[in-house]
Amino acid sequence: MMKTVCVTGASGYIASWLVKFLLQRGYAVKACVRDLDNPKKTQHLLALDGAKERLHLIKADLLEQGSFDAVVDGCDGVFHTASPVIFASNDPQAELIDPALKGTLNVLGSCAKTPSVKRVVLTSSMAAVSANGKPRTPEVVLDETWWSDPEFCRQTQQWYMLSKTLAEDAAWNFVKEKGIDMVAINPSMVIGPLLQPTLNTSSAAILNLINGGKTYPNATAGWVNVKDVANAHILAFENPSANGRYCVVESVAHFSEVVKILRELYPNLQLPENLLALNGKEGYIICDFLGKDSLDIQKNKSFDAAPDDEAKVIFEFMEASPTED
Ligand SMILES: NC(=O)c1ccc[n+]([C@@H]2O[C@H](COP(=O)([O-])OP(=O)(O)OC[C@H]3O[C@@H](n4cnc5c(N)ncnc54)[C@H](OP(=O)(O)O)[C@@H]3O)[C@@H](O)[C@H]2O)c1
Repeated sequence: MMKTVCVTGASGYIASWLVKFLLQRGYAVKACVRDLDNPKKTQHLLALDGAKERLHLIKADLLEQGSFDAVVDGCDGVFHTASPVIFASNDPQAELIDPALKGTLNVLGSCAKTPSVKRVVLTSSMAAVSANGKPRTPEVVLDETWWSDPEFCRQTQQWYMLSKTLAEDAAWNFVKEKGIDMVAINPSMVIGPLLQPTLNTSSAAILNLINGGKTYPNATAGWVNVKDVANAHILAFENPSANGRYCVVESVAHFSEVVKILRELYPNLQLPENLLALNGKEGYIICDFLGKDSLDIQKNKSFDAAPDDEAKVIFEFMEASPTED
């Protein structure tokens, strides 16, 4: 029988791929968007294969209490991806923390009232794993047992990290209390081709390297392809043994290595030559990541490029000419 699932924040970067793959796999998808009248948020979804028959766009806002009741009604699964992704904010409480934290509890509150919902897949982040000030040496492996420390996030004004940490923590407390089956997906920086016509924050981190700037950040990040992240969500829903949190990180690279890859792939691009010093200090190094392997993401990789082509696939989005929103 055809299963019905709900995707919150459906017009976003990761969610658009998720909706595409869910439709490909025969699901009926209730896709939540904030503004049904904005073609930049809806057209690319309506153009997906299977959309005409099985995609239902529904208006919902994280901060409207009960906004998701009618949306999750009749759904077998809920993918909660909606959350603001902004790294600089003058009002972090209103712009980041409230939508992430209250929004997640709002969506889960609707799930708790809906017996048809068998599992919730929460899009969390490595932001809820890695921001804790613990020393990083090459021997240190970050895994799903790590948690970001809210106090450290406040002190260092890492508001996005704080929003994702508070939201995931509150989600686990809520689902334990209500007996909801939830799996969390914790991706690192997500890059790769865009389906939506607007530029999202993690893609902008790469695009900023080719906009004529002279410096690149002195930072190391985990990177992962957007298609693998979308696929990981579906595996987390479909695989009965999936549980807990999954760090979804393909490789770890300093921005200097990213610049080097771009230079090799696109020799005509003007790329920054110099490291941007972070307050005069070395940027921190995120070491190796090891996740649980029960999702078999490596085996289930959703793009079939030869290893040498992989970097090219990851940076493919640069050719998609996205626009600032
Ligand atoms: N991209 C990454 O590198 C990365 C890494 C780890 C985790 N994540 C997580 O993945 C999820 C999706 O991120 P993304 O990169 O795909 O970002 P994105 O393209 O900016 O998508 C975010 C989505 O959240 C929705 N949203 C924001 N505030 C909302 C509100 N008040 N009510 C309803 N919807 C709201 C946005 O709706 P509108 O379209 O209406 O603005 C948008 O659809 C987020 O939970 C993010 O924390 C992202």
